[in-house]
Amino acid sequence: GVTEMRLKVNGAVRTIQAEPRVTLLDALRERLDLTGSKKGCDHGQCGACTVLVDGRRVNSCLTLAVMAQGKEITTVEGLANGEELHPLQQAFIDHDGFQCGYCTPGQIMSGVACLKEGHAKTDGDIREWMSGNLCRCGAYPNIVAAIRQVEK
Ligand code: FES
Repeated sequence: GVTEMRLKVNGAVRTIQAEPRVTLLDALRERLDLTGSKKGCDHGQCGACTVLVDGRRVNSCLTLAVMAQGKEITTVEGLANGEELHPLQQAFIDHDGFQCGYCTPGQIMSGVACLKEGHAKTDGDIREWMSGNLCRCGAYPNIVAAIRQVEK
């Protein structure tokens, strides 16, 4: 049956009615109109759905919304400070870190975690950390350059 869930997303508590099997990705996109997080594969293989839960990156397609209750969920929509982009968002623009843009929100959320958790010291470390985020346009070198810019 349907249950009530309270999700704290980008600092605001939102209440939804959903079945317990609903993924965090579907809750964000379809119930909360936060469509920045993308559905690429829906089974944990592309990283397009990456969000932060209590500061750690997760594939939101593999996370049940019900399990994310009581935690701080951050999506790409929550990164900018008003009109001011997050430094990594700006760096993606500066370095052309995208072409079609579909994977970009997930890349950026993974990149934010990469920087915060200290995995951006070398290009090799960045590539390793970001290896779960696929880009079919092949923007990888520019994505690494964007993360490196913020690390400096
Ligand atoms: Fe979640 Fe691909 S949509 S990893």
